[in-house]
Amino acid sequence: MKAFGMDFGSASGSRGSRDSMGSGSTGDPASEKPIISLKDITKVYKMGKQSLKVLDGVSFEVEKGDFIAILGPSGSGKSTLMNIMGCIDIATEGEYVLDGKNIKARNEDELAVIRNQKIGFIFQKFNLLMKYTALHNTEIPLILRGVSRKEARERAMSMLAAVGLEDRVDHKPTELSGGQQQRVAIARALVGAPDLLLADEPTGNLDSKSGQEIMALFEQLHKDGHTIVLITHDLNVARRAKRILHVRDGKILEDERVGENVPSEERVQ
Ligand SMILES: Nc1ncnc2c1ncn2[C@@H]1O[C@H](COP(=O)(O)OP(=O)(O)O)[C@@H](O)[C@H]1O
Ligand SMILES: [Mg+2]
Repeated sequence: MKAFGMDFGSASGSRGSRDSMGSGSTGDPASEKPIISLKDITKVYKMGKQSLKVLDGVSFEVEKGDFIAILGPSGSGKSTLMNIMGCIDIATEGEYVLDGKNIKARNEDELAVIRNQKIGFIFQKFNLLMKYTALHNTEIPLILRGVSRKEARERAMSMLAAVGLEDRVDHKPTELSGGQQQRVAIARALVGAPDLLLADEPTGNLDSKSGQEIMALFEQLHKDGHTIVLITHDLNVARRAKRILHVRDGKILEDERVGENVPSEERVQ
């Protein structure tokens, strides 16, 4: 991974250039509350007279610094769950607490601020703005926060360098490969030092080699202390995480710690 020349800094400490709108949640990790707490989340879509229950009593917590995969087949409710975790959508019933804040009680403008400050999103289709360069795509979250142009540019440059794209900063998305576009999206997600990274099928549109490289990047981000929730239908992708939540028909069937079955002599006492 050194080949990428990555320097994401530490996710848990406050970065030198972190702007005043960051959460500033530092301190002893052992005493920290979970970053995410979902209790009995239900999501019902109303379609005419019919209603479709897409999430059915989902409850789990995510500790800061964890790397979890939400694994399930197409249509099982994964993206709906990510949209709720990302404050893009609100649950029909149940309680969602993000970094100590109850999300249900908030209005649209507040949710937009929470999204910008706390969450970095990575999507299957990259969702870059096609007419802008990699650099401008990456600095947009900071500009939205009111960070100065100069600082936004510097931080975007260093994030693009961290994902190995220092020689592509002036390229537009159409002038980049899929893997490179996803790296721009990752740089954009990270540039504001979010508390949480949410990735929805981030390797879904990539060839297997680029997919492997993106997964290696996520593993590095986890080592650097980032909290990652990654959604996938692919068991091989999910196995790169530390914990897998198996979702089927809007329910969590199993909460699996990856690599817990190591032989006892290999365990650290
Ligand atoms: N806005 C919506 N209105 C109605 N039904 C929806 C909407 N979004 C998703 N669904 C339905 O909810 C189910 C779960 O969708 P989704 O969360 O996208 O699943 P996944 O990401 O696991 O493929 C699907 O049956 C889908 O058709
Ligand atoms: Mg989906």
